[in-house]
This record gives sequence, structure tokens and C-alpha cells, in this order.
Amino acid sequence: MGKKRKLRKNLHKREIDDQPALVICVGKSCAPREVSRLLADQTRAYAAATGGKVRVALVGCLHICKKGPLAATWPDIEFYKKVDLARACRLVDELAATVPDLPLQAGPSGHSP
Ligand code: FES
Repeated sequence: MGKKRKLRKNLHKREIDDQPALVICVGKSCAPREVSRLLADQTRAYAAATGGKVRVALVGCLHICKKGPLAATWPDIEFYKKVDLARACRLVDELAATVPDLPLQAGPSGHSP
């Protein structure tokens, strides 16, 4: 089974929908676990601070197992090696740009704010 198919199966099992996400591997074979976890925590904080349009999901292995930390975009799966915080933040920004802005809600008078 290919890497993309394994990732799809893993995320569908966890009922992750098609909301854009950056998936970060926190397994110990591709990078020291503390490095991957720190990257994931900092990326989550960045994603939340920039609007929360992009979810940051963790997996135990992306089946590449070298040149980590490793990350993948979701739902259009692309794998990235040697991801640092700057690159992770760029990926979050790129994924957020794919999310359309919600239309403004009409107020009680029926007029948009
Ligand atoms: S442990 Fe990270 S890709 Fe396998």
C-alpha cells in the first residue's frame, strides 16, 4: 500500500474530514521525537493564532522514516522532509489560503454589519 493511501486510511479511521490539515509525524524513526513534538506544538499555536482554519494532526508514522521531521498536507497529500517551524508555518498559510472565507452573517435587522 502506498504512503498516500496509508495516510488516507489512517485519517479516515480517525474521522478527519476534508478540512485542510498539516499532518506531522511524531514517530521516532524519522527525527528525534522531542523535535517533532515541539514542531507540532509550535505549528498548532501558529495555526490557532492565524485563524484556526487549518488543523494540525499528528501521526505515528508517515512511512518515509528518514530526513524528518516529516509533514504532509491534507486533503491534497504532498509529503515534506526536514520541515522546520518556518516551513510548517508557510504550509499552514498555504493551506489556509485554500479555505474560502465565510460570508458575513446578516444582523437582526437583515443588514450585514
Ligand atoms: S517515523 Fe516518521 S515517517 Fe516513519
